[in-house]
Amino acid sequence: MTNERWRTAQRYEKEYWEKLGERIAARASSQFTWYQWRADQLIDRLRHLQLDQLVDGQARVIEIGSGPVGLAAYFPAVERVAVDPLENFYAGNKALAALRNPSVEYRQGAGEQLPCESGRYDLAIIENCIDHVHDVTAVMGELARVLKPQGVLYLTVTVSCHRFASTPAIPTRSLQPGRRTCCRMVCSAS
Ligand SMILES: C[S@@+](CC[C@H](N)C(=O)[O-])C[C@H]1O[C@@H](n2cnc3c(N)ncnc32)[C@H](O)[C@@H]1O
Repeated sequence: MTNERWRTAQRYEKEYWEKLGERIAARASSQFTWYQWRADQLIDRLRHLQLDQLVDGQARVIEIGSGPVGLAAYFPAVERVAVDPLENFYAGNKALAALRNPSVEYRQGAGEQLPCESGRYDLAIIENCIDHVHDVTAVMGELARVLKPQGVLYLTVTVSCHRFASTPAIPTRSLQPGRRTCCRMVCSAS
């Protein structure tokens, strides 16, 4: 993605969250119950994969492109770090910041150059973000760097499915035309 396109997308991103913050402040919109729902889904998925050691509250977790709150806020962990290039804006928005979990450490930064120690995390979460980044290869390299050798990556992509659209990686019969479908993939970094 070019720098100019990334900056434009980030401007739209900011406007989206700013409006949502205003609606939440005016009590015209529900709060971020979807983060809780998505964290519960992730916990179920990890248990299903017999990765129970990641959900016992002892894991170190990093989330990239967390948005203002992030799934990490609802995930049981001993250490939670959330990184986003819009962090300064999110932190400065009272309505959005009020919904945060104080035990998450929010850091300003980008996935291409994570402000984090190498080999530190058991679980990396990147949800609805990889298609927003400037350089996918650099982000994947950074995810591998910060994960422990046996660390787990949880990556989700939101797919907008139109009648004639097809995505080779995803069986089209599992997508319904006109519906937004979240495809979740869990894989080991090693
Ligand atoms: C569609 S929002 C999703 C936010 C959150 N993950 C969620 O699902 O609500 C995409 C997020 O990715 C962030 N982002 C954009 N470029 C990024 C990059 N290079 N590295 C990390 N995050 C990035 C944006 O600032 C934004 O917060």
